[in-house]
Amino acid sequence: MTAPMRIAPSLLSADFARLGAEVAAVIDAGADLIHFDVMDNHYVPNLTVGPLVCEAIKPWATVPIDVHLMVKPVDALIPMFAQAGASIISFHPEASEHIDRTVQLIRSHGVRAGLVLNPATPLSVLDHVLDQLDLVLLMSVNPGFGGQRFIESVLPKIEAVRRRIDTSGRDVWLEVDGGVNAGNAARVGAAGADTLVAGSAVFTGGHYAQSISALRDNALAGRAARTSGDPAHV
Ligand code: DX5
Ligand code: ZN
Repeated sequence: MTAPMRIAPSLLSADFARLGAEVAAVIDAGADLIHFDVMDNHYVPNLTVGPLVCEAIKPWATVPIDVHLMVKPVDALIPMFAQAGASIISFHPEASEHIDRTVQLIRSHGVRAGLVLNPATPLSVLDHVLDQLDLVLLMSVNPGFGGQRFIESVLPKIEAVRRRIDTSGRDVWLEVDGGVNAGNAARVGAAGADTLVAGSAVFTGGHYAQSISALRDNALAGRAARTSGDPAHV
């Protein structure tokens, strides 16, 4: 079986006045996950939504809710998001005093655990925790806002994390978040990502199915070109 290429629309670019319908629409259009960005105006200079809104969209979310916590401190919110229906909870190492403890806390609630690396966060943060993770989320923008430009220097970082995951032999998802669009999805897929977050690329323009298909098709084509040793076509 070929490995999937999951597309996770970020609700940050959705119409918040009609959030339930937006969730249903992107799922209908092929979304594999719902990416839910939580910002606190402390760890990042923006403020979004909390567990109450996660709970409100849960009945609409027939795919897993992928909660991305950009909050500091992080631990107190984890039981609340588990209760609110999160399937995956990811956090930034800079936002936790004890990374291993936070990972165990997420797992103790039966939720899959992810660690998020900002563009300048070194991969060494994965050294002693990768075997406890279900997901590594690589930021390809600095966190805080949708609609930013993809940072190209993250591409070799994706490749390096891909190698580490493959070496581990575990099924750890490799997700990329920020500025991903149909124009760079092939390179992101070629570098080894298997899960693409996209906010503005999905919600801008209103053609959700077309946008999601373009992201997935291009990312899969990039992966295929790389695995067939033909990166010239990426
Ligand atoms: C940024 C968020 C991203 C963002 C993605 O801090 O974590 O999920 O909303 O939006 P786009 O795809 O527009 O960069
Ligand atoms: Zn995010």
